[in-house]
Amino acid sequence: MKLIILFSLLAACTLAQVTNKISLSNGFVLNYSITSPKISFTLTGSNKGYVALGFGGRGMDGIDVAAFKWDGTQVVGEDRTNIDSQNVVDLDVNKGCVNNLTVDPTSTYDSSTGNWNIKFSRPLNTNEPNCDQIIQAETSQNLAFAIFKDFTWKQHTSQNSWKFTLSASAQNDPNVSSLLIQYSYLTLFFMLMIFV
Ligand SMILES: *[C@@H]1O[C@H](CO)[C@@H](O)[C@H](O)[C@H]1NC(C)=O
Ligand SMILES: *[C@@H]1O[C@H](CO)[C@@H](O)[C@H](O)[C@H]1NC(C)=O
Ligand SMILES: *[C@@H]1O[C@H](CO)[C@@H](O)[C@H](O)[C@H]1NC(C)=O
Repeated sequence: MKLIILFSLLAACTLAQVTNKISLSNGFVLNYSITSPKISFTLTGSNKGYVALGFGGRGMDGIDVAAFKWDGTQVVGEDRTNIDSQNVVDLDVNKGCVNNLTVDPTSTYDSSTGNWNIKFSRPLNTNEPNCDQIIQAETSQNLAFAIFKDFTWKQHTSQNSWKFTLSASAQNDPNVSSLLIQYSYLTLFFMLMIFV
């Protein structure tokens, strides 16, 4: 009986762990799963410099940033903030807060290709209102993504932001344009099958 309960619990836990995918800009893909009280991410793509995700706020204002760099040995996650809208996306630790990003040590960066595979997690609510946004699951919230030209924290070379809902349940990729690209490839493929 105990075993049955244990196995049902295990099965329920496996089922509950849903991974959703969001196509960002510059070919980067963000996978995430919410197991309250935390959210886990996998960020993949290619760029030879800092890559950063922004949570909440409006544009740069009020943004809470998770920035990633390669220090020559490992992927380092920097919890940064512009929640006071001073346009200095400073380290949380310089603002009396703590770094609430947990980077999985299996995260990789390839310096010859610029390929990233970053796995990290953070609490949805870090309880640091002076530095961090609360990531509200099931609520539409701003999500930004930026890439930088090297590993010096300066102005980004590209920045995009969207309103996305991060959900604990299964969702389609909210980036319709990336879906369109996929479907047009599929259409092209079928047309080739018909005509070739
Ligand atoms: C991201 O999610 C998609 C869809 O579930 C999956 O095909 C892909 O392998 C995932 N990528 C990573 C790096 O986990
Ligand atoms: C979707 O993906 C494309 C291609 O990667 C990107 O240019 C665009 O900014 C993304 N976001 C939305 C909301 O379309
Ligand atoms: C944020 O990180 C600090 C330091 O690792 C930790 O003490 C604190 O509990 C974290 N906050 C939450 C809500 O997990």
